[in-house]
Amino acid sequence: MVTASQISLPARFLLLLLIGLNSAEMVIMQEDSVRCLKGLKSSLSDPDDNLSSWNFATTAKVGFVCNFVGIFCWNLQENRVMEIRLPSKSLSGNLPSALQYCYSTTTVVFSGNQLSGPIPSGLCDWIPNVVFLDLSGNNFNGSIPAGIVNCKFLNTLLLNGNKLSGIIPPELASLDRLRKFSVANNKLSGTIPSGLSQFGSSSFEGNNGLCGGSLGGCGGLSRTSLIIIIAAGVFGALVALLLAFAIWRWISVHPKGKKKKASGSSSVPSGVEGGMEDLGWVNRIRAHHLVQVTLFQKPIVKVKLADLMVATNDFQSSTVISTGGRTGKTYKATLSDGSTLAVKRLPGGEFSEKQFRSEMARLGQLRHPNLVPLLGFCVVEDERLLVFKHMASGSLSSLLHTSSAAGAEVLDWQTRLKIGIGASRGLAWLHHGIQSPIIHQNICSSVILLDEDHEARITDFGLKALMRRSSLGGAAFVDGEFGELGYVAPEYSSTMVASPKGDVFAFGVVLLELITGKKPLDSEEGFKGNLVDWVNYLAVNKRIGEAIDKRLLGNGNDDDIIKFMKVATSCVVSRPKERCLMNQVYNSLKEIAATAAGYDCSEHYDEFPLVYGIKDSIAGGSSNTEPTQ
Ligand SMILES: *[C@@H]1O[C@H](CO)[C@@H](O)[C@H](O)[C@H]1NC(C)=O
Ligand SMILES: *[C@@H]1O[C@H](CO)[C@@H](O)[C@H](O)[C@H]1NC(C)=O
Repeated sequence: MVTASQISLPARFLLLLLIGLNSAEMVIMQEDSVRCLKGLKSSLSDPDDNLSSWNFATTAKVGFVCNFVGIFCWNLQENRVMEIRLPSKSLSGNLPSALQYCYSTTTVVFSGNQLSGPIPSGLCDWIPNVVFLDLSGNNFNGSIPAGIVNCKFLNTLLLNGNKLSGIIPPELASLDRLRKFSVANNKLSGTIPSGLSQFGSSSFEGNNGLCGGSLGGCGGLSRTSLIIIIAAGVFGALVALLLAFAIWRWISVHPKGKKKKASGSSSVPSGVEGGMEDLGWVNRIRAHHLVQVTLFQKPIVKVKLADLMVATNDFQSSTVISTGGRTGKTYKATLSDGSTLAVKRLPGGEFSEKQFRSEMARLGQLRHPNLVPLLGFCVVEDERLLVFKHMASGSLSSLLHTSSAAGAEVLDWQTRLKIGIGASRGLAWLHHGIQSPIIHQNICSSVILLDEDHEARITDFGLKALMRRSSLGGAAFVDGEFGELGYVAPEYSSTMVASPKGDVFAFGVVLLELITGKKPLDSEEGFKGNLVDWVNYLAVNKRIGEAIDKRLLGNGNDDDIIKFMKVATSCVVSRPKERCLMNQVYNSLKEIAATAAGYDCSEHYDEFPLVYGIKDSIAGGSSNTEPTQ
């Protein structure tokens, strides 16, 4: 029920209500209301006699229409109709133009009847003050009139469950008060206007030809498969082709059973070192190569799955840039214009496509200069591909741990500090800056990526929620449920519940990697334990200086390095209660930078944006968040 207080009253009528109506006006009102309801009754067929109380013989009494079933007036002393509520009354017929005499009406509910014909294009000229319009569950056909925008006070518009066809008029986007909207289960087609993107897929589903917006890629999967099925029925040749393809695929998937044939067939593309299994999924999605990749920001050029396949050389293993542990492999996609994207293949989850899409919509909104922007995604069959901005300088892990190999450039202290601050800022934002905080659950040096300027950007945030949960217990740890080995907070072995403090612990390990140059499972030769154990052991024995990467010391930064080490060790204390919060970690690191010699902390480290509405406005580095085309 919409109560009067919820309704935005058009000022004109509010004024009339307050000053009262003179008798002449009242007569007009009376006549108009009667005209409206008479017209309505006569155009509707009412087999259950539900409108029998609509008796117009007793015109003498002012306000008599207010006692009609389904009619509510502004005021019992006058006949002005405020609400027409006739849900599920077995009514049939068309919406008559007589409704124009009910121009003060704010609520019109005809849901669950058998009304038919078009939604009158002039409906909103007739009842321009309507706030709540529910025509769902009828047999209305034809297209949705663009004139609906003239109902500019609309707060709820329900047209679901009819036989409406054609497109959704893009004009509807200008209904800026609209909070509840559905055109689900009609026969609509075309693209969902971008201005309606705030409504979830449930507002649109059940329309065969509809795509885009919250429904995702145009030319979606179900349609494509349907077309294939129909086409296969018509063209026998195609059936044969598909059959041949299926057999070939079966052979590829079962190479041992058909050894001779497989070795005889040199048609298996070379260069797919990932083995036969890899080939399987790529071939499965190939059938859907025309599926469009859903991009969160309006792309200049539409990207299709086929483009990603070409750009990754059919997801060839040589394009893998990260194996990604439990969150799946990431491939580097090089588009024809030379620009690059990172495409992540998410392992199967137990979430419905709908849940997945809504999670994507949420993650796609998160824009922060220290997060790798999720640009879009693509769902075909069981495969979920995420499209990220590609980070040119790779991961912190590879930069830190492979550069220690022969001759490679050593990351200087300033760069390490900058990476620590940037990453802590991104993670602190995930914990404290957004309305529903995100616990990363997989912080490690390989999810901290670096762009061209060595600005740290965290990736894989929010993906743990999309992973299939392994059975809790010892296996969960081996499986990386709580992060990579060496990063897992000690309390997880008993609590088994992800917490922000668990992220802080893992982040502390990253800081230790930065300052010691060692890997999380490394320690000094002869010491039994991981990096955290080793650093703690040295700290207890007042030998913490020994843990620091020798290459950093003696350049005038030693005091800062010691401070940094203190922050790092305060993150990896074993009792979660004694650990700092992520925003404290960020602030401590920022303080080190504020006094650091030769450290440029001017514009990069302005105030931490604590923003509770996640819109584009957050993006401090918005220039970095454009999708690469
Ligand atoms: C009105 O409609 C309801 C539901 O269809 C029905 O139960 C009822 O008998 C109808 N008639 C009247 C006069 O209310
Ligand atoms: C709507 O349905 C009616 C029959 O109920 C039919 O005559 C009319 O052609 C249909 N209009 C459209 C646009 O499909």
